Amino acid sequence: MLVVVRENYDAMSKEAAHIVASRIRKKPNLVLGLATGSTPIGLYKELIRLHKEEGLDFSKVVTFNLDEYIGLPPNHDQSYAYFMWENLFKHININPANVHVPQGMHGEVRFTTYETDPKIEAFCQWYEDEIKRYGGIDIQVLGIGANGHIAFNEPGSSLGSRTRVKTLTEKTRQDNARFFKSIDEVPKYAVTMGIGTIMESKELLLLANGEGKAKAVKAAVEGPVTAMCPASVLQLHPKAIIVVDKGAAADLAAEFVYYG
Ligand code: F6R
Repeated sequence: MLVVVRENYDAMSKEAAHIVASRIRKKPNLVLGLATGSTPIGLYKELIRLHKEEGLDFSKVVTFNLDEYIGLPPNHDQSYAYFMWENLFKHININPANVHVPQGMHGEVRFTTYETDPKIEAFCQWYEDEIKRYGGIDIQVLGIGANGHIAFNEPGSSLGSRTRVKTLTEKTRQDNARFFKSIDEVPKYAVTMGIGTIMESKELLLLANGEGKAKAVKAAVEGPVTAMCPASVLQLHPKAIIVVDKGAAADLAAEFVYYG
């Protein structure tokens, strides 16, 4: 695990974009795993700039997003499909046929029976199969929740889990309420890649910024590997890079860190 600390959010984002762009230049049909949330917005802005100003070519790139809320249609302004379109896809030359964001609408989902809803189960299996059909994810971008979650794998998620439905914790719903009119509108469930799915990616790139993430980053990098901090599983990955700003690095012991 390599931890790279950069001065601020902008430098963190540029470092991450540099890593992703170098992988695309090396392999034009890169299978790129993407995340949503506030953290990767700067990375996406820089990738857009690299596309517009330096000709970074996305025409053969294939993407898989980590997760999506259940119950929001793709055109809902808080759906992750919409987020990806607004913050990245509409600005670059990606082929829409190569874009995969988990589906959040599965006909009439009755939440009391969601776990056994055959439509969702079939979708989750399809998503896993689709990732395999493209030869697996080459590099997966990740954020980290203040509680240590990756994608919507909340603390306690099985470390071997696959794409499935998860119930969001109250903490995650509160954290994400800032994007909705009220907390009542924040969905209670999400479809998410599992920790096992994420770990099969050939390379992982986790980003974190701000002091609000410092404890989670410390637990992920220096703590025991435990399902109570899903991001700690990155310690077991042969190629995991963590790029953080100084705020998110604040609690790290110096010997773990590379100030390049
Ligand atoms: C989003 C995702 C989440 C976020 C995490 C951090 O696709 O998988 O795990 O990465 O909740 O969110 P932000 O970046 O908004 O702090």
